[in-house]
This record gives sequence, structure tokens and C-alpha cells, in this order.
Amino acid sequence: SEPPKPLVVKVTQEAEPDDGKKKVTVFFGTQTGTAEGFAKALADEAKARYHNATFKIVDLDEYAADDDEYEEKMKKETLALFFLATYGDGEPTDNAARFYKWFTEGKERGNWLENLQFAVFGLGNRQYEHFNKVAKVIDEMLAEQGGKRIVPLGLGDDDQCIEDDFSAWKELLWPELDQVLQDENDVIGASTPYTAAIPEYRVVFIKPEETTLDKSWSLANGHVVHDIQHPCRANVAVRRELHSPASDRSCIHLEFDIAGTGLAYETGDHVGVFAENGIETVEEAAKLLGYSLDTYFSIHADKEEGTPLGGSLSPPFPSPCTLRAALTRYADLLNSPKKNALVALAAHASDPSDAERLRFLASPAGKDEYSQRIVASQRSLLEVMGEFPSAKPPLGVFFAAIAPRLQPRYYSISSSPRIAPTRIHVTCALVYEKMPTGRIHRGVCSTWMKNSIPMEQSEVCSWAPIFVRQSNFKLPTDPSLPIIMIGPGTGLAPFRGFLQERLALKEAGVELGRATLFFGCRNRKMDFIYEDELNNFVESGVLSELIVAFSREGPTKEYVQHKMSEKATDVWNIISQGGYIYVCGDAKGMARDVHRVLHTIVQEQGSLDNSKTESFVKSLQMEGRYLRDVCY
Ligand code: 2AM
Repeated sequence: SEPPKPLVVKVTQEAEPDDGKKKVTVFFGTQTGTAEGFAKALADEAKARYHNATFKIVDLDEYAADDDEYEEKMKKETLALFFLATYGDGEPTDNAARFYKWFTEGKERGNWLENLQFAVFGLGNRQYEHFNKVAKVIDEMLAEQGGKRIVPLGLGDDDQCIEDDFSAWKELLWPELDQVLQDENDVIGASTPYTAAIPEYRVVFIKPEETTLDKSWSLANGHVVHDIQHPCRANVAVRRELHSPASDRSCIHLEFDIAGTGLAYETGDHVGVFAENGIETVEEAAKLLGYSLDTYFSIHADKEEGTPLGGSLSPPFPSPCTLRAALTRYADLLNSPKKNALVALAAHASDPSDAERLRFLASPAGKDEYSQRIVASQRSLLEVMGEFPSAKPPLGVFFAAIAPRLQPRYYSISSSPRIAPTRIHVTCALVYEKMPTGRIHRGVCSTWMKNSIPMEQSEVCSWAPIFVRQSNFKLPTDPSLPIIMIGPGTGLAPFRGFLQERLALKEAGVELGRATLFFGCRNRKMDFIYEDELNNFVESGVLSELIVAFSREGPTKEYVQHKMSEKATDVWNIISQGGYIYVCGDAKGMARDVHRVLHTIVQEQGSLDNSKTESFVKSLQMEGRYLRDVCY
């Protein structure tokens, strides 16, 4: 189940009762909720196995208020499990950033973790150069500082089936935990995963006559800081199609109005957007669950320890609300169900053969079938529920164990606050794909954006809770340094912001260095987004060169990296002059290929051998002169 996050950060210090029970802390560093889900699943299973131990699930950001408190509290830990995701170019997740900085950059502390036993599971993607970097670093440093590693570092790979990696790692972990935590009263069977009780929220139905307005989203506009926990309600001011009607795809230019919200951003930052599920998706979910969309209810996590969701959890979303609101805003219905979701569905399937099949898919024996039928064919939760119609979970189980919380989607902001101080611009390609099962998958957020109603069209415009995530994808502090920007497709987004910023600088009389943009699209007439604006930037001297690769115009594919090779001497000159290189867009294909070409250019132009080239490119990255804003 997904992160029921408290809307207010608690800074209360609970006194630790000394009940003679062994205390285990399960830390998570999560971006999309997977690491948090694993932390909870592990704690749930462990609670069912070891009755003489207590488990605390801890968000790394909420663990301690400052460095001293981190140190003080860590010193007292005796058994700690870490679930740590790595994202972007080897960076920690937002909620682990402070801990990571403190732990990795802090003072020498010697063998201060001698009393600690630990295990680390990393969540990453093997397609990336810095695969599971955060988990690797923490695992290594915990051991260096005296901690005793009880199982080898788990390397979860999201490119394959990360759930299988998690299950395999747990199989190593249980025997070790048995040694430390097992008590004569614990009857432990074979190490079957998901033996834990299925978590469930308490749902109270409210009669329609008692209903008041939907309170979903307690939005604190004017809040001091807007973050994922405190998003800010922003209206859609402008929505425009960027592709020509001749294109069979769609790319939306969208502007959020942030005037008077207190929300601020910098060029190069990301915006997180909480979108809504489409009405067809929501209606289908309600039908499968067997409830009317107007069902009105409140949802609660019971606070008592010992209940499956007991302990420190808060309700998953603000209520009371209608089922329509809950399914629209909070439930992830289109991703593939996790194994624990199948177990929970099985528990509520009235047809025994449905229950058996669901349990099999979630079991170690059903591993291959799960990865083929569910993961590889990208079957959505709703598709799976449709295949097992007798599975009708109560709402409290559905929101706790089956549908994860709908996550915000992140976009590189395509404007600069110097030009658009009251707007956040987004450049978003519509996700519309045929899945292996034949289902048409519509991306939740891009579809919402495409169908959104802008202020300029109607007073009752669309809005979304949004927040800004800072990035290190920034122009050089010295504007006279030359830059190269590489961004095909929507990878252009942050560079439009960069160019706006340079325009503002130029208008303020600042001397600008040379700027080269490599852009790529299929066809000039169809998907050359922002063509006029880019030409204007060239005319005004904000952009020195606009180099475009059209991939579907001629007989052969022309990509940005081909254009870079043609311009190898120029690229090398810019690098040699202390210039910056920026890449934005698809990480697996484009960014990887561009990286290779950059490598070749450095090698050939600089007449360096392979290992010297490697370290040269690495040093560019270390110096922050080769920056990538790439998406998974
Ligand atoms: P294609 O769709 O014709 O293959 C923006 O999406 C542009 O990036 C398109 O022109 C697309 O071309 C191109 N593109 C696809 N894969 C790429 C890769 N590996 N490297 C560079 N550009 C790529």
C-alpha cells in the first residue's frame, strides 16, 4: 500500500518504553512510494513473525530535526533496515537528502556504530550509470563506521522485476532475523512471503443527508513552503497544442497560474503535479468494487499498536469524501498490481478458484507467471480486477493494500521566473500507447493536461495541486561561459526556460556567452515545437546556433547525436573553453547515445586514450559542467 503521509510534520519526541522487546527501525528513502511500500510490507511480515520485537517505520526526513539529533538517535539504534531509492544521476530521494548529506559528508566518527546491526535494500534501475548508488554508499559507510551487516546489500532493479529482487533479498534476511529476533513463542513456518495480516483502514460510511462539501485536498495556499506534503492549488491559465494537426501525436503547452500562491521556482526546477484519473477509469473502478461513486465515507488508520495499520500512520487522504473523489485523486488504478495487492484481492474473492489463482500469482511458485502476465504485459490493476470479478475488497482494504496512492508526476519547468514570474510552464507529451494486452494506456497526468480547461476558456477552469522540486540543472553562474544544450522532443523544456532566462539577462545588459542548442524531432511540419520562439531567440542573439535533427524526413534517421558528431570540433572547443553541456530527455535511449558520442568526441578531439577519456568526462560531471535532466 502507498504512503499515508501526515500532512503536518510531527516533531514530538516519544519516550521509548522499555518493554524488553527488541526494537527494529525500518528506514525508507522514497520518491514514488515503492521504497516506503517495501518498508511497510517488510515490517508487516516481520511483525507477524516476531512477537517479541517492535518495528518502527521511519521516513528519513522525519527521523531527526537536525544533524545532532540524527547522531544522537542513530547511536541508540541496534537493528536497522534501510530501503533506499536512487534517482536521477545517482541522487538520493528528496526525503533522504538531508540524512544522506549528514551521513556521507559529516565528520569522522570512528567506530561509533558498533552496536548496530543493519541491512540495506536499494531501489534503482540498471539502465543507469549510477545504479543504486545511494544504497551502495550508505551500506558501505555503515559498515566502515562499525555497523555489522547482517545480509549483503540488496540491489533492486526496476528495469526488471523489483518485487522479485525484494522477495529474494527477504529470503536471505529471514534466517538472520530469526537469529536475532526469534523467541520461543514465535512459531515460524517456511519463509513464505506475504504471511502478514492484510492491512486495512477503518471506513465509516456517512449518510448522504449528513454530507457536507468534499474536503479532499487540504490545500494550504500561502503556506510558507510548498512541497509534496503541502501542494498548492494552481489554476490552469493556458493550454495549447504544440503539434500541428498533421501529427498523430500530441504535445501540450500548459501554464499554471501561481500568482499570489506563495509558490516560487527557479529556471531548471521541476514541478510536481497531482493529476486526476479520467472519469472512465474512475467509473470502471467503482463498478469493479461494487460501490456507487456517490458513496460518502471517512477513512481512518487505527492508532493502536498491534492492528495491521497500527502505530504511527495517518489516514491515507483527507476525508470525508465521496468514492468519486477518492478514486479520482488518490488511487493509482492503471499501474500493475503488486504481489501484496493480489494477496489482498485473494482474501476477498468469493470464488475459491479466483482466490487460488490470485494467491498462486503472488507466490514464489507463480513468480514467472507473475512477471509475464502482470509485469511484462503491463496489466493494470483494473484489468486484473476485471479478470477476477468475484474479488470485491472492502474500501478499507482497497485503499490500504490494493490501490497504491496516486503519485505526482514531475515535469521540467519550461519557463523562467524572470520572464514568467506568475506562471509555471509545462511541456508535456501525451502518453497514449497500446499495451501488450491490447489495452490503450492513457497517461494519467498527460491526459488530464490535454483535457484540462484553461482560464482563458472558462471561469470554471481546471486546477491541480502542484509543488516545485528544486534541481541542480542550472545555467552557469558566469553567463559569459559558453553552453551546449541537447534536448530532442520534450527534452527541450528546461532549455526554453534557460533561453528565457538568457533573454532577461541580455535585456538587463549582461554579456552572454555562446549558446548552442541541439534539438530533434520527427518532422519540421509536425512536431517542431516552439519553432517560432526558437527562431526569435536566434534573431535576438540569445541562442547562437539552433541545430535540428529531423528523424523522419529523409531516407535515414537523423538524431541529435549525429549532429553533434558533425560539429565535433565546435563541441570540443566549447568544452575546452570551460563551457557547460546540458542533456535533457529520455535517459535510456537518447541520453545514453549522446553520452557515447560525447565520449567519442572527447577521445578523438582531445587525442586521449580510453581511460583518460573516461576520467575527463567524469571530471566534467564532478565539476557540474556536464549536467543531465533525464527521466526514467
Ligand atoms: P524517432 O521517433 O524518429 O526515432 C524526439 O522524440 C526525437 O528524438 C524524435 O525525432 C525521435 O526519433 C528521436 N529519438 C528517438 N530515439 C533517439 C535516440 N536514441 N537518440 C536520439 N534521438 C532519438
